[in-house]
Amino acid sequence: MFGPPGVGKGTITEMIKEEMDIAHISTGDLLREAVKNKTELGLQAKSYMDSGDLVPDSIVLSLLKERITRCNGYILDGFPRDIEQAEALEKEGIKIDKVIDLKAPDETVIDRIASRRICSNCKAVYNLLFMKPKEENKCDLCQGELIQREDDKPESVKHRLEVYHKKTQPLIDFYRNKGLLIEIDASPNDPKIVYSNVIKAFRASVA
Ligand code: AP5
Repeated sequence: MFGPPGVGKGTITEMIKEEMDIAHISTGDLLREAVKNKTELGLQAKSYMDSGDLVPDSIVLSLLKERITRCNGYILDGFPRDIEQAEALEKEGIKIDKVIDLKAPDETVIDRIASRRICSNCKAVYNLLFMKPKEENKCDLCQGELIQREDDKPESVKHRLEVYHKKTQPLIDFYRNKGLLIEIDASPNDPKIVYSNVIKAFRASVA
């Protein structure tokens, strides 16, 4: 699952996971978990994440390989992030079948990130404008407190978008040239519409 920060990669992947019983592997989540648990890799990753920079490949690849060996089918969310990571995947013999590219303008994703809240306990994702919790500031699933992600502050978001345009966007052509790219308009402010567009386009691509 590919696209700029805050476009909805995690949200749409979770919807597919519920429907199709497939693992959702988010390198952002793996890294946040490592930071929270203060593992050696997490401690090394923290400063990169807080400033909105990419974490070095060696750290991300270690976490990813360990996770991938534990499942059969999976959706990768937030990986690969640049051409080097895509080539590293190929070297490891990890095959990608399709690349779903969620597209939306920078202004749209900035609004989504500014209004995103996550559960401090179970990590469920909400949005104060578009996916509101039933009770203010409380997770619907576990009643945990809703908080803002450390890297969702405006300075980090601006830098994350710059990094995306410079390093990650070139991957679109890399996968288009391999005939794997499925492009989706992710600008509607309703995840159900985006999800339905993804499913239709995916089915058409394998028909
Ligand atoms: P990561 O966690 O991957 O962050 P990201 O790519 O910036 O993506 P986000 O998690 O911010 O957004 P999303 O697209 O999943 O959107 P979401 O579904 O939450 O990475 C974080 C950091 O980790 C990186 O900056 C880097 O430091 C490091 N990192 C991670 N992977 C790495 C790698 N491979 N290599 C090196 N470093 C790596 O939705 C956003 C909000 O919008 C939510 O509130 C949601 O409810 C709402 N929403 C979703 N869809 C819609 C919709 N259609 N309409 C309205 N609201 C919507």
